[in-house]
Amino acid sequence: MTESRRTFLKQSAFVVAGTGIAGSAGAVTNSLLSGKTPSDIVNVALIGCKNMGFGVLQNHLDLPDTRCIAMCDVDRNILEERAAGIQKKYNQKPVLYDDFRKLLENKDIDAVIVSTPDHWHCLPMIYACEAGKDVYVEKPMANSIEECNLMVKAAKRYNRVVQVGQQQRSGKIWQDIMTKIKSGDLGKLRKVEIWANFHYGIGQKKVADSPVPHGVDYDFWLGPAPARNTFNDTRFHGNWRMWWDYGGGLVTDWGVHLLDMALWAGEVMTAPKTILSYGANLSFPDYAHETFDTMSVTFPQNDYIITYEHTAGTENGPFGMGYGLRFICDNATILADRSGYRILPEKDQQSQDKIEKFESEKGRDDHDLHSKNFVECVKSRAVTACPPEVGRQVALYAHMANIAIRTGEYKLDWDDASNRFTNSEKANRFIVPEYRKPWVLPKV
Ligand SMILES: NC(=O)c1ccc[n+]([C@@H]2O[C@H](COP(=O)([O-])OP(=O)(O)OC[C@H]3O[C@@H](n4cnc5c(N)ncnc54)[C@H](O)[C@@H]3O)[C@@H](O)[C@H]2O)c1
Repeated sequence: MTESRRTFLKQSAFVVAGTGIAGSAGAVTNSLLSGKTPSDIVNVALIGCKNMGFGVLQNHLDLPDTRCIAMCDVDRNILEERAAGIQKKYNQKPVLYDDFRKLLENKDIDAVIVSTPDHWHCLPMIYACEAGKDVYVEKPMANSIEECNLMVKAAKRYNRVVQVGQQQRSGKIWQDIMTKIKSGDLGKLRKVEIWANFHYGIGQKKVADSPVPHGVDYDFWLGPAPARNTFNDTRFHGNWRMWWDYGGGLVTDWGVHLLDMALWAGEVMTAPKTILSYGANLSFPDYAHETFDTMSVTFPQNDYIITYEHTAGTENGPFGMGYGLRFICDNATILADRSGYRILPEKDQQSQDKIEKFESEKGRDDHDLHSKNFVECVKSRAVTACPPEVGRQVALYAHMANIAIRTGEYKLDWDDASNRFTNSEKANRFIVPEYRKPWVLPKV
């Protein structure tokens, strides 16, 4: 929190000048907050309330020094239901908004959680930065390369603390894995293999179009994405992930979490130079999706190789694990998922294990630690566990994997300095999204 903000809070003594559609500033009766002065408290707001955002908000509110003063959603049913949930659990009564631009006018908000579908990350994040708010924005950072670029610029230009929702960066088992790899004991890192075979990657069973649900502003939900004359539930809440206008399928949805670990292991902090990607829709014709149900991608690094693959709808994979990472080093492989990791020794020429086997303690969900890290950084102004540069980098890897297949190029070369693919004009047309009026891609 800035000093001017602290001073303002002391003077205003919790008065919220809301322009929302319902509710009023919450009485601070939550026992977690008793004894706190306004300057100790971080006022958070949520944009996009249904699923992940509601979870992330609760992780914030479980901390001793936060409160929720505003919530926004374009689905009135979700907004009211989630607000009632917050009131019941935390005894806080946020101001409710149906337009995030109005919410951002609320000067009492210190930090905003953006948990809308991916096509709706960029504008709220950048406008929030402009309005002087810190931002926790969900992954993938955005639905296009240029949006990611602008979001990095906005965080810098407005000097904001930004956390991207790649919560594995805050998790102990992943931090331990990175320490083990970087210690050198496992030998040289040569390859990281990633697989992500989730059922939800094939989308939902096809259903007929239906009327827009009561209480939903569907045009606002579509926002900068192309207009649609019809509503279909398989493209709406939760299901939007498998449609190019709103998401990028499994590789941008789960893939970014796992790719992030593979890049972290090699301390890679740059966009890809070259990628090789093949994919297609090969199965489940009764299911509604555009994004590829089957993908194999190679991301060459300077001195190791990352591979990613998925066969959506199978929910199984190597070692009996539906998803996972295999960090292959000279002396051992680390096999990991969110439930923990195992060190599997490689053999020497006499078939002896090169090092001892090891099995980690059980992993835990890292979301709460990521929120805690964000709130600490909001207060200290330190760099978060997953700053926008890291969010951009991994989002670019995932988007390029899709672009290579969508253009039929399969191999793409990227020059980060010029923000261009050097071997495909077709691919270059995917860099900057076309926003539907009145929405305009912001200039930063
Ligand atoms: N970090 C993780 O592990 C993790 C897990 C799940 C989802 N996510 C990410 O969280 C985000 C949300 O995913 P979800 O599963 O909660 O989606 P969802 O569809 O369940 O919820 C999105 C909500 O945003 C609302 N919304 C849409 N446009 C809006 C707008 N312009 N203003 C306000 N509200 C708007 C919708 O009405 C809906 O309530 C996505 O980016 C997703 O990738 C991250």
